[in-house]
Amino acid sequence: MTFENLKKLEKEVQQCKSCPLYISRNNTVFYDGSENAKIMLIGEAPGADEDKSGKPFVGRAGKLLNEFLHSAGINRDEDLYIANTLKCRPPENRKPTKEEKAACERYLRAQIEIIKPKIIVLCGATAMESFLDKKFKISKVRGQIFENIEGYKGIKFIPILHPSYLLRQHSTDVGSPRDLTLKDLIMIKKTALN
Ligand code: URA
Repeated sequence: MTFENLKKLEKEVQQCKSCPLYISRNNTVFYDGSENAKIMLIGEAPGADEDKSGKPFVGRAGKLLNEFLHSAGINRDEDLYIANTLKCRPPENRKPTKEEKAACERYLRAQIEIIKPKIIVLCGATAMESFLDKKFKISKVRGQIFENIEGYKGIKFIPILHPSYLLRQHSTDVGSPRDLTLKDLIMIKKTALN
């Protein structure tokens, strides 16, 4: 597949009515960053700011994510391809339902197939549950590298804590969620370079 397919896919997403979220959306949110990126970062779903702008991670959580990326030496525009498990905003920013995730899954799969990232960063529990064992706790498995995931051979999956969670955790002490997330991102950058 070529990047032309990515454009076609985005058009398809813009017209999608596979689940009821199309009724309340202002914009679909397909991606941000670089189509040549080695690292793909997958979040949960658009919030109000993303629904307004059509871009992922542009609200408060996105701004915090940007700070962490900058501190880890990851360039959001060049080193990352950013997407979400859902392309439309769930009302009141509630968690995506099983049905919504199932309806949207083929778009994310296609994005992965086209981008062919070396690393997929699973940002938060919702993204993690879409690919890894649902029984995992994000706080336990964050920073670990998972390989040989069925259907995704050759891709390293690395869960990290979601920036919305970090917005509520202010400490930067050694071992705090913020400290661990920065370390995870530095490790991810190193892994991508190898
Ligand atoms: N949270 C997410 O998971 N994704 C976004 O795009 C914005 C906030």
